[in-house]
Amino acid sequence: MRVLITGGGGFLGQKLGRALGANGSLRGHAITELVLADVAAPSLSGMPFPVTGVACDVSDEPAIRRLMTAPFDVIFHLAAIVSGQAEADFDLGLRINLFGTLNLLQAARAAGNCPVVVYASSVAAHGGEEPEVIVDGVELNPQTSYGTQKVMGELLLNDMSRRGMVDGRGLRLPTVSIRPGKANAAASSFMSSIFRDTMQGQTANCPVADTYPIYHTAPRTVITNLIHAAGLDGALFGPNRCINLPGRTDTVAEMIAAMTLVAGAEPASRITWTPDPVIQAIVKGWRGHVLAEKGLRLGFAADRSFEDTVRWFLEDDIARPM
Ligand SMILES: NC(=O)c1ccc[n+]([C@@H]2O[C@H](COP(=O)([O-])OP(=O)(O)OC[C@H]3O[C@@H](n4cnc5c(N)ncnc54)[C@H](O)[C@@H]3O)[C@@H](O)[C@H]2O)c1
Repeated sequence: MRVLITGGGGFLGQKLGRALGANGSLRGHAITELVLADVAAPSLSGMPFPVTGVACDVSDEPAIRRLMTAPFDVIFHLAAIVSGQAEADFDLGLRINLFGTLNLLQAARAAGNCPVVVYASSVAAHGGEEPEVIVDGVELNPQTSYGTQKVMGELLLNDMSRRGMVDGRGLRLPTVSIRPGKANAAASSFMSSIFRDTMQGQTANCPVADTYPIYHTAPRTVITNLIHAAGLDGALFGPNRCINLPGRTDTVAEMIAAMTLVAGAEPASRITWTPDPVIQAIVKGWRGHVLAEKGLRLGFAADRSFEDTVRWFLEDDIARPM
């Protein structure tokens, strides 16, 4: 079983690679090679099977075709630029998030083995005229360029799966919190920094009111779900291969209270509260309440509490930093 992770040097790509290493197999077959592709060649040490890091820009069509000359059985397509960046630079977002996905799907199709493609979409697919509480099957109405690019990828994934070109599964990821490392250009970056940075003695700003509801999931849960998506029989998804992943809805205040329960009162005292109209404008278009019934029916995991997330962050990312 050959496995490819695009965006393999990123936050989720690295965690997914490590989880695949811990499992050793996927879809009931031993993994014989894992290829991690990113703008700079990523690496992962201590893995039980060969890992190849490749520098490959997904927006470079010949490069991605070369990468996929030898077919992969499972492809996790995680390469993307994040919401804030795609909003600031429309052309860059189109090039990487839309044309990059198109290139990847065309190369996967050309490989001729109908590979499993797990596509990281986003709940940023939702917004605008959709109901406040998102249920399965609502018409998608993204309010950012990032969300729009993700939705275009979803449609293509569905169509190419229908035609038997790839065996696609698209997951709309909730905001993944707590993200380790440094703040990034995602509009949702504060949804990690107000926990990650304050638990490590730094200050962090919350640009929205503490009543703002966040639909979120923990890194451990989302990695479990990416692997689960690859293992399912594609036919179980039905004609729509793209689903909302289960997550939790908590307000910022509820998440801070959970952090306080696990890590004491100090971290919360380091949060500053300067409103940021640019971030507010982006995140107000998102939805905080999602009923992911199809995802639950298909056996995807849900988070039980944000306290768990805080504990897992301390175990996975502070005790054993990436
Ligand atoms: N983390 C979240 O909260 C979240 C939420 C919803 C969806 N997602 C999606 O999940 C995926 C992974 O997210 P992440 O948090 O690990 O992001 P990340 O930014 O940490 O990782 C993305 C990786 O893609 C790489 N990349 C960017 N442009 C590329 C290009 N042209 N060619 C090849 N690689 C390129 C980056 O270098 C980076 O390593 C993304 O598709 C993202 O849109 C993430």
